Amino acid sequence: MNKTILLLLLITSQIITFAQKFEANYEEAKMPNYTLPDPLTFNDGSKVHSKKDWDKRRVEIYTSFESEMFGVIPQWQGTVKSTILSVKGDALNGIAKRKEVCLEFANGDQKLKISVLIYLPKNSKKPPVFLGYNFDGNHTTTTEKDILIPDSWVANKTEFGITDHHANEAGRGAAQSRWPIEQIISRGFGVATVYYGDVDPDFNDGFINGIHPLFNSKRDSTSWGSIAAWSWGLSRIMDYFEKDVEINARQVIVIGHSRLGKASLWAGASDQRFAMVVSNNSGCGGAALSKRIIGETVGSINTAYPHWFCDNFKKYNTKEALLPVDQHELLALIAPRPIYVASAEGDHWADPKGEFLSCVYASPVFELLGAKKFQAMEMPPVNTPVTGTISYHIRPGKHDITLYDWNCYMDFASKFFRIK
Ligand code: GCU
Repeated sequence: MNKTILLLLLITSQIITFAQKFEANYEEAKMPNYTLPDPLTFNDGSKVHSKKDWDKRRVEIYTSFESEMFGVIPQWQGTVKSTILSVKGDALNGIAKRKEVCLEFANGDQKLKISVLIYLPKNSKKPPVFLGYNFDGNHTTTTEKDILIPDSWVANKTEFGITDHHANEAGRGAAQSRWPIEQIISRGFGVATVYYGDVDPDFNDGFINGIHPLFNSKRDSTSWGSIAAWSWGLSRIMDYFEKDVEINARQVIVIGHSRLGKASLWAGASDQRFAMVVSNNSGCGGAALSKRIIGETVGSINTAYPHWFCDNFKKYNTKEALLPVDQHELLALIAPRPIYVASAEGDHWADPKGEFLSCVYASPVFELLGAKKFQAMEMPPVNTPVTGTISYHIRPGKHDITLYDWNCYMDFASKFFRIK
């Protein structure tokens, strides 16, 4: 047998082994029996009775997520400089003020620039602001002609005209269905977005590009991956908001779809300045319980995206039962701040029921901290939001973020924040 055939056979057998190992299960009947860790029981078995106990227990849970899943974010020793790149007083046909702000991170001779696109309603003062990453560049979120196109690495997408990892004019407005900016502004909210690849390009590069090399730290099995880097970036934007007199930094709603929903959850857990968190179809590693092993699993996510989490997380490939935490505890870390989790009916990969159950099992922590109990035990019908400090909906359709989703998030935010 010649070498090429041998190599092909080897690759095929590895693909088959991978497929068998991580073949997705979508049936509850085939789900293993699983036990979820109790967020209100300390690691030593004693119970959490008070808010004061919870503060200690919260540290235990947070530390487990850090060292076993997202990775530890090292101390930042560099500088951050903000520069206003452009201001337009009459954006979106006069209803909004628009700004583009550059944050430049520097440590020694290493530098990284990110560009934040901000829209603020002209008729409300210091508005609450939705802050979330976009997938393909700020210019894809709106058809407004003059928004900067990122020069960082972007994923190839023929529908956006990208074939060489460089964004271009063809993508302008291509993701606007995910960013109903005019509707958001019309309801009195601000909205800010950043291309996530500005902070860390989403491919497995050994952490030599993006923000990671600007930290002077050696990597080990607990070192941070890309999701932690993206959440760190959200906190740096929050630092900027605190200095911007036009923004109400106490009412920032951190929002994300899918992998960016995982990042918004970790940002909300890591940085308590975020007043509210929205997780849209965040799935495995986000709101969905890992121990159910439905849809995407720890093994499949770590294999397809080895750079998202810390290396320790790989210990749990096909061994979810051993995980010391599960994702309801990630939601619990956000308590008692309001959180909205949303699923899509056709998004089986993200395990909608697992996302819903996280809300159910996070509820006792919210209740301990004085919030109302999550108002459902069974999944609600489609388009019927369960509302409260923990809110949830499932809508028909596929993995996406739609105007329906945004309208629910704006209704939710309006209950907690008054628009002036
Ligand atoms: C993949 C990945 C998911 C992720 C999604 C997305 O499907 O497996 O974990 O949420 O991409 O970000 O769109």
